[in-house]
Amino acid sequence: MKRILVLISGNGSNLQALLDQAAAGRLGGEVVAVISNKADAYGLERARAAGVATEVLPGRDFADRDSFDAALRQRIDGYTPDLVVLAGFMRILTPALVRHYEGRMLNIHPSLLPKYQGLNTHQRAIDAGDDEHGCSVHFVTEELDGGPVILQARVPVFADDDATTVAERVHVQEHAIYPLAVRWFCDGRLAMKGGQAWLDNQPLPPEG
Ligand code: GAR
Repeated sequence: MKRILVLISGNGSNLQALLDQAAAGRLGGEVVAVISNKADAYGLERARAAGVATEVLPGRDFADRDSFDAALRQRIDGYTPDLVVLAGFMRILTPALVRHYEGRMLNIHPSLLPKYQGLNTHQRAIDAGDDEHGCSVHFVTEELDGGPVILQARVPVFADDDATTVAERVHVQEHAIYPLAVRWFCDGRLAMKGGQAWLDNQPLPPEG
């Protein structure tokens, strides 16, 4: 069983999807701990309800990004995870931290990368008049939201949508594709080599 550590900042619906699949024996791994940078993140309650260890590491307790990330790394490594999963973790990580977990850290981003890196992705897709939007699971690299894409899901954008309705539609897809990518990793089918994502020893096509 692979050991999975999940980082969150908020609601934790993606965490819930992972917990549900793990409980059903379909994740190929065990969520060993959840760390949040927000004490009031609802995801912490989800973790506790599933009997998973939780920790809170508030950013304001640290003088700068380097000291926060050093403490975070220490906490994470205390659980000896095989995989670190960012599930709505809303902090930018330092290059040193990202390098430490290279090839074993995944993120889910609410857009069809490389479109709309950063924040407010649903509103930006609407403002641009896009008729489709979606989400991407990718390996984390030093480039923010720029690591190799593993899996994407598309959703339509309708004329009467707002950011909330689009976000709901995207979330449904996130909850489907994130556990799938985590399972591939746990089953040893997914890896990052030469800066590319590989599935079953085949390089995945670059996104875009
Ligand atoms: C998700 O939509 C995820 O894609 C996004 O935050 C949300 C977290 O929801 N992540 C980012 O924007 C990262 N840049 P959740 O807490 O319910 O899983």
